[in-house]
Amino acid sequence: MKQPDLQIVVDQIADEMAQQSERGVVADYIPTLASVSPSHFGMTIIDHDGNCYMSGDADVAFSIQSISKVFSLTMALGFVGDGLWSRVGREPSGSAFNSIVQLEWEQGIPRNPFINAGAIVVADILLGRYEPREILGEFLRFMHTVTGDDTITIDEAVAKSENETGFRNRALANYMRAYGNIENTVERNLGVYFHLCSLSMSCHQLASAGRYLMCGGRRAPGTSDTIISQQRAKRILALMMMCGHYDGSGEFAYRVGLPGKSGVGGGILAIAPGIASIAVWFPGLNSQGNSQLGSNALERLVELTGWSVF
Ligand code: DON
Repeated sequence: MKQPDLQIVVDQIADEMAQQSERGVVADYIPTLASVSPSHFGMTIIDHDGNCYMSGDADVAFSIQSISKVFSLTMALGFVGDGLWSRVGREPSGSAFNSIVQLEWEQGIPRNPFINAGAIVVADILLGRYEPREILGEFLRFMHTVTGDDTITIDEAVAKSENETGFRNRALANYMRAYGNIENTVERNLGVYFHLCSLSMSCHQLASAGRYLMCGGRRAPGTSDTIISQQRAKRILALMMMCGHYDGSGEFAYRVGLPGKSGVGGGILAIAPGIASIAVWFPGLNSQGNSQLGSNALERLVELTGWSVF
């Protein structure tokens, strides 16, 4: 398929999405997210050579929420290597992002690192080496390194709001602690987990952050600037394909055919391996907690470009 002009593609998708009436519902279980306007949209594509194509609010920062689970997993694998997999599985859950049911069947081992329970264990692994303040500093440094942008910050108001209403996450953490799969106190753990989720980034910054996954672990193609090994980058992409949209992962793979990770802030990071890193932001969510128009926009992108991995 001949490569179309990507600026025309992002502009066309923005126009098409503006016409759609079914926009989903903004997450309200985290009070600060409930006040975000559902009319926002943003899209950024960064291609293999670093060319950047943007539309809408691509430079407006939003709460990336569970998309941060890709980056916290990357860091935790760097700390403990494949030993991580003795505490977290690598299978799709088929249940909601905040579900507790499988934890009893599977003795406190979460199905994968992208559901809340799995990311809470990942936060526990990160804390294994640091104090909470230190690990959050390390996390921000990692984000600054992968994006080349040191303005990225954690939104303290979102973290506070999550902390005040995070009853389900407390239940998940307590339940796993009862099985010995959380080593830190629940409050110490969740203080870190909530802050990781509260990272504030624009589509432009998020697409930049995804470049190391697009480029087989390197920050940019043709450089020796290695963030992770090629094998690890491939494996993280496999997890994104199978688990990145929770109980909507099959539907996303069917419709879009790219590894992707969503967040309840309405963002999605999708990777066309070797081709492009793509970020979209449409705050309205579908019933699985994934961006409604974000999924539609990415479906249109692969129709227009042929970028599905299948
Ligand atoms: O823990 C939570 O519920 C949120 N901080 C993150 C959930 C999330 O983003 C699920 N994604 N679609």
